[in-house]
Amino acid sequence: MNLQDQRVLVTGGASGLGLATVRRFYDRGAHVVIADLGGSIGTDIASSLGTRAIFTPTNVTKPDDVTNALSSFRDLPLRVVVNCAGIAPPCRILGKKGVHDLDLFRKVVEVNLVGTFNVLRLAAESMSKNDISGDDRGVIVMTASVAAFDGQVGQAAYSSSKAGIHGLTLTAARDLAEFAIRVYTIAPGIFETPMLLGLPQSTQDALAQQIPHPSRLGRPEEYASLVEHIVENPMLNRETIRLDGAIRMPPR
Ligand SMILES: NC(=O)c1ccc[n+]([C@@H]2O[C@H](COP(=O)([O-])OP(=O)(O)OC[C@H]3O[C@@H](n4cnc5c(N)ncnc54)[C@H](O)[C@@H]3O)[C@@H](O)[C@H]2O)c1
Repeated sequence: MNLQDQRVLVTGGASGLGLATVRRFYDRGAHVVIADLGGSIGTDIASSLGTRAIFTPTNVTKPDDVTNALSSFRDLPLRVVVNCAGIAPPCRILGKKGVHDLDLFRKVVEVNLVGTFNVLRLAAESMSKNDISGDDRGVIVMTASVAAFDGQVGQAAYSSSKAGIHGLTLTAARDLAEFAIRVYTIAPGIFETPMLLGLPQSTQDALAQQIPHPSRLGRPEEYASLVEHIVENPMLNRETIRLDGAIRMPPR
């Protein structure tokens, strides 16, 4: 897919995996919409990249915010949407502070799963108006986690939300096939992003040692590289792929 004069939207694009994806597609000549929370550094990132990048303050759970983000660079066809927005607050079902807060569970599912679906449905509507380029009108990439399959202690909400994204992948790809829109999900293992780099170095080293090969944290550029390949390869559809150096997460 030639991305010159095409539009790419990345949620959570002001940090970590999303930011690496923004940079990659900008380097490939696309116009890139960074859709992230208002308090993020999205404006600085967009101005450091150049005129083909724009930041739109977006809470992915809000339909009006997403509609507004989708109106940026509206004269160009929306070819690629990458869902990276997510949160991962840990909480045990029965912990030292008592029973799992139900609102916290709802919030994680709301941002990670409902937010992803909100973006998917509105992006699909926009993509359905595109002409076909290559085989596709558009490609939607979602981000789950290995926690969708190997949920650890304290990940009840996070694992549930990410398993929901895995479950959504097949039915979304089937629903959108008639519009020539592909849907693919990446389940990252452990990546070097602000989500992880906030942990003590000893914890990061211990996590890296659990990865069979290569025995290090993943780099955001490696995630972005896979997104680019998914976009370029029209036979990739409706699957969740683990990007994890063969890790299988232990209980804790
Ligand atoms: N880093 C890892 O090891 C790892 C592993 C597996 C899965 N993931 C998933 O990858 C995605 C990106 O993670 P990351 O490590 O880059 O995290 P990150 O914290 O660096 O970036 C997440 C971004 O999402 C944004 N965000 C949060 N809530 C939002 C909302 N409601 N609306 C819009 N934006 C919102 C944040 O502002 C932030 O910029 C997440 O979905 C995460 O669950 C990350």
